[in-house]
Amino acid sequence: MKQINIHSTITILTEQELNAIELDLKNQAFEARSKAYAPYSKFTVGAALLLDNGVVVKGSNQENAAYPSGLCAERVAIYYAGANYPDAKIVKMFITASPQDRDLELPIPPCGSCRQAIAEYEFKQDISIEIFFMGAKGDIYKSDSLKNLLPFVFDKNHL
Ligand code: THU
Repeated sequence: MKQINIHSTITILTEQELNAIELDLKNQAFEARSKAYAPYSKFTVGAALLLDNGVVVKGSNQENAAYPSGLCAERVAIYYAGANYPDAKIVKMFITASPQDRDLELPIPPCGSCRQAIAEYEFKQDISIEIFFMGAKGDIYKSDSLKNLLPFVFDKNHL
């Protein structure tokens, strides 16, 4: 019998350990979260992407009375970036999430569908995306690449 062992590294940071660019991106993710439309789950998520042209693209979750028609914050942001800056590369992504009525201290990772969407752009641009995620306060988790969050990713090479 053979086995494949998968190793992922996540770095745990405090806010004080972010550099100025990352701190600004964190603030932009929080601002994005404040604009979430989440009347059904009341769970609000904000995402901010830093592009290599210096532009920051923000997204928040957008829900719908027909529940599956809603979209996560990460995909709102990444599809906006793909649609409006198709040649730009995504350098960093910051995500914050929490129920709207309390400040969660637990880092909230992007859901599986969002990981798949982020993977597509990481493959497309050929440089890794640094992904930071947190609750509303407390520790910040950082992954140097989407690959840490989605081992055995399905991609165009499988088609
Ligand atoms: N949500 C996100 O925006 N991103 C994720 O990665 C996980 C979930 C949103 C979708 C929905 O509006 C709410 O959080 C509860 O699932």
